[in-house]
Amino acid sequence: MYTLTYESTAVNIMTSSEMESLLEEARTHNKSKDITGCLIYYKGKFVQLLEGDKKEVQELYDRIKKDPRHKEVTLFSEDKIIKRTFPNWGMAYYPMDEEHTNQYELEQFKRNLILLSDLVEPTNLTAKQFWKKLKTMIAESPT
Ligand SMILES: Cc1cc2nc3c(=O)[nH]c(=O)nc-3n(C[C@H](O)[C@H](O)[C@H](O)COP(=O)(O)O)c2cc1C
Repeated sequence: MYTLTYESTAVNIMTSSEMESLLEEARTHNKSKDITGCLIYYKGKFVQLLEGDKKEVQELYDRIKKDPRHKEVTLFSEDKIIKRTFPNWGMAYYPMDEEHTNQYELEQFKRNLILLSDLVEPTNLTAKQFWKKLKTMIAESPT
């Protein structure tokens, strides 16, 4: 098996309904190809980890790279793996553009992500890099 992680910048701010349809599309396709992983959208940035059969993951990544919804797609780690980090497809996001956005919710979201990153035991370098990137992203962004 194979895993990769990349980061990218959203072209437009993603609304929660846009994120929902992206998720729906991704879940259906990934399930049919036995691909799992995690996609985070935070303040206009995406970080995604994908894992599964090497050929399938690379094919998907090639497709994702061409997606007009984001730009500056940068691979920052890849590995051969024997065990998945995300046996189930998961995703967290925060709809920054919405009116109900408030400081409390945002802090809650950040805390949850940091808590999650402390709970998971990354079994490969790519997964480690994914969580590291996520933490940096959360820490850096001014609120
Ligand atoms: C940040 C981001 C992550 C994505 N992740 C996935 C994914 O995990 N699986 C997937 O099938 N499509 C994902 N997509 C959507 C693909 O880029 C593409 O739109 C979709 O696979 C349909 O491709 P097609 O129109 O060539 O069939 C993602 C798009 C973006 C912008």
